[in-house]
Amino acid sequence: MTQITNSRVYIAKVPVGVAPNKSHFRTVTTTEDKPELEEGSVFVKNILFSLDPYIRHNFAEGAKETEVIGFGFSKVLESKNPNFHVGSSYYFGTLPWSSYSVLGPQELFLNFSIDSIDKDIPLSAYSGVLGTSGLTAWDSLNRVADLKKGETIYVSSAAGTLGQLVGQIAKRKGLRVIGSAGTDEKVTYLKNQLGFDAAFNYKTQNKREALTAAVGPQGLDVYYDLVLDNTVEIALDLFNSHGRIVTVGRLADHNGQELAHPKNIALVLAKQIRWEGYVVFEHFDQFENFWKEVTPLVKSGEFKYTEAVVDGGAGDIADIYFRFLEGGYQGKVSVKLGDF
Ligand SMILES: NC(=O)c1ccc[n+]([C@@H]2O[C@H](COP(=O)([O-])OP(=O)(O)OC[C@H]3O[C@@H](n4cnc5c(N)ncnc54)[C@H](OP(=O)(O)O)[C@@H]3O)[C@@H](O)[C@H]2O)c1
Repeated sequence: MTQITNSRVYIAKVPVGVAPNKSHFRTVTTTEDKPELEEGSVFVKNILFSLDPYIRHNFAEGAKETEVIGFGFSKVLESKNPNFHVGSSYYFGTLPWSSYSVLGPQELFLNFSIDSIDKDIPLSAYSGVLGTSGLTAWDSLNRVADLKKGETIYVSSAAGTLGQLVGQIAKRKGLRVIGSAGTDEKVTYLKNQLGFDAAFNYKTQNKREALTAAVGPQGLDVYYDLVLDNTVEIALDLFNSHGRIVTVGRLADHNGQELAHPKNIALVLAKQIRWEGYVVFEHFDQFENFWKEVTPLVKSGEFKYTEAVVDGGAGDIADIYFRFLEGGYQGKVSVKLGDF
């Protein structure tokens, strides 16, 4: 019987009122027999994990002593599932933080197989710009934002994984793009590298004044909201009629800040505003269309993105995650356990 050495990361205790730290995780490494597969299952080697803000919600009360689950990318080593082929298929979807996994029909139904990945593109791109973040940006703009040439869009958290792509897609569609970010370096990057028409540092500038000045007399048409804080109140004041708020993230909530409760909510009626949330999990069937359009733009360098790919084993993911939570990396953060 073949033996494997597998490291698995568990939530050891629930952090209450504090950020997760080392004491909240437990990494267990064992040498064990390679598992026997049931019909419909696959055995995979996990090669890349995407670190995302939402993983923090694994730590909800009651989540104790469960494996940490995130989004990742694996090589299929053995398959009893007709859709996953050894040697050419990669699993792409939700995964426990571990070196190897057995995925049953339920997981494989929700997630999917990629055959013949473009080897000219770094694998890490599939956890960011060509992964769920990229799909979220592309599909939410298509499905909800109803972008029109000449309109003005404001993107919060614009230098993050989603924000960067949202701004570039909107720019390509002929919109005037405004973004905000938390450091002057990021603001310069947005303007000089990504071609944003205006950008400001929301930490050092008065947000209402900076956004009002950037929007100017043309008014605002779309607010792409990744934060869900009270910036929405400013946007409502600045909107033209039939403005759209696309709420996709709640970074304020991840950071323990207050969520939006706009005092001027009546403007939704007066200005006939559409405020719609978007969740990517219902739209994974759009991956093929998304890749068809966006992969060539990433490959040619027309779409730019920043990322931090950190090499490590499954046993290192927790430490890398703490550093990620503290803002220790720039751009999309992935942990790379192995090669294609
Ligand atoms: N709805 C969906 O289907 C879906 C899919 C994917 C992601 N999301 C959500 O979308 C959001 C953004 O994801 P992402 O992958 O782009 O994140 P990311 O790449 O990790 O970017 C996070 C950045 O957001 C900024 N930020 C953090 N807290 C903030 C706050 N309170 N106000 C403004 N900016 C803040 C920080 O940069 P600064 O230095 O600029 O502050 C941080 O670097 C997250 O909430 C994520 O969970 C939703």
